[in-house]
Amino acid sequence: MSAAASHPRTTGGLFVTFEGGDGAGKTTQSTLLEEWVADAGRTVVRTREPGGTEVGALIRDIVLHHRGEVAPRAEALLYAADRAHHIETVVRPALARGDVVIQDRYLDSSVAYQGAGRVLGRDEVRDLSLWAAEGLLPDLTVLLDLDPAAARARLDADDKPFDRLEAERESFHARVREEFLALAGAEPDRFLVLDATLPAEQLAAAVRDRVRPLLG
Ligand code: TYD
Repeated sequence: MSAAASHPRTTGGLFVTFEGGDGAGKTTQSTLLEEWVADAGRTVVRTREPGGTEVGALIRDIVLHHRGEVAPRAEALLYAADRAHHIETVVRPALARGDVVIQDRYLDSSVAYQGAGRVLGRDEVRDLSLWAAEGLLPDLTVLLDLDPAAARARLDADDKPFDRLEAERESFHARVREEFLALAGAEPDRFLVLDATLPAEQLAAAVRDRVRPLLG
């Protein structure tokens, strides 16, 4: 991984990302972690991709709400552009200050979603993201694993209109899930995989157990 090696982490901050399909409960879990880390006296920067910056909010609007086709390479580049700006202007400065960054979605989402379309390969999507983020990898990635049918039932219960990706077919979401699990299997030290059907408090406790030693 030459991109990663070219830009090692040199800070006292901690970078935690949450990944998983739509409706897996990432927002709930990142909120619970944020509260716990703040109670422990650390400064938390809570953020997300796409859309963690002003530029990113514009990109988010295109990738999630544009009606009509977006070519797969264009979509991958839009997420990468959002990421490049977000990492440089929000995440790296926070880590340099020693803050704890808790982020909903990061490069694993690109590999899982843009790669799952089967037009783009896993490695090229990952390399694009690593280039965009100058090699920055999270210290910990929590994968909330959920069967796509269960996820769909949760989203239906929400009663909000689906965005472009949520509206994809179930087979797409099944591939996304498989890709996330494959990524976690390839990097077991970075990932914590949790069954998203467990009660929120039980999931939060498992996340805290993994984060506690990383806080130092
Ligand atoms: P968002 O509403 O933030 O997701 P969530 O379902 O977590 O509330 O929407 C983000 C969507 O963008 C989601 O469907 C996944 C997708 N996505 C990608 O396809 N590639 C990426 O690199 C990222 C970060 C997200």
